[in-house]
Amino acid sequence: MDSSLSIGYLADHPEWVEELANQHWEEWRDLVSTWGRPQASEELWEHAKHRQGIPTTIIAFDKDLLLGSVGLEVYDYQEIQQYSPWLTSLWVMPFARHRGLGTYLVRRMVHEAACLKIPRLHLLTLDHTTFYEKLGWTLLELGSVDDHEISIMSITPRHLAEEELRFH
Ligand SMILES: CC(C)(COP(=O)(O)OP(=O)(O)OC[C@H]1O[C@@H](n2cnc3c(N)ncnc32)[C@H](O)[C@@H]1OP(=O)(O)O)[C@@H](O)C(=O)NCCC(=O)NCCS
Repeated sequence: MDSSLSIGYLADHPEWVEELANQHWEEWRDLVSTWGRPQASEELWEHAKHRQGIPTTIIAFDKDLLLGSVGLEVYDYQEIQQYSPWLTSLWVMPFARHRGLGTYLVRRMVHEAACLKIPRLHLLTLDHTTFYEKLGWTLLELGSVDDHEISIMSITPRHLAEEELRFH
């Protein structure tokens, strides 16, 4: 990936909120029937208020191109309240995929959770179980949300070494 790639909190780059809301909406609009485009914006504006807290979002961008995001939320779905907090909204722009950015963003958020002293971090996925297993996540439970079969996975957060925090 190009060395001009930048990683930062959405809170420091609120100019990306609406573009990210568009991308998230396009990616997941068919998944959650109760979720609307205005809600996608509202949630991200809330994330854009926080650094090193919950909720928050970390983004990747290259000058004027948004490339990816990952979020941290108290709850991902209101229906699943027995676990918290959650890594959410992992997304990489299609043309930037398969170059390690998704992996980096997951690791970066796991590091963030370690800094926040979160003992266990959770996520849910439809079809990326193997991707997360390779990153050290383990399957906690199978379930269903909105008629979709999901896997709930979890990890004990650990800090990244300084070298690992850089994206190559
Ligand atoms: C899931 C998603 C975030 C992954 O992003 P990504 O940037 O492609 O992730 P990575 O490049 O780190 O890894 C993807 C694959 O590319 C491989 N890869 C990583 N770097 C690579 C490289 N330099 N060359 C070739 N392959 C590479 C990884 O091993 C991984 O393989 P796997 O899928 O068999 O595990 C992306 O596909 C996406 O946004 N999907 C739509 C939204 C979504 O489904 N989000 C997840 C919700 S649970």
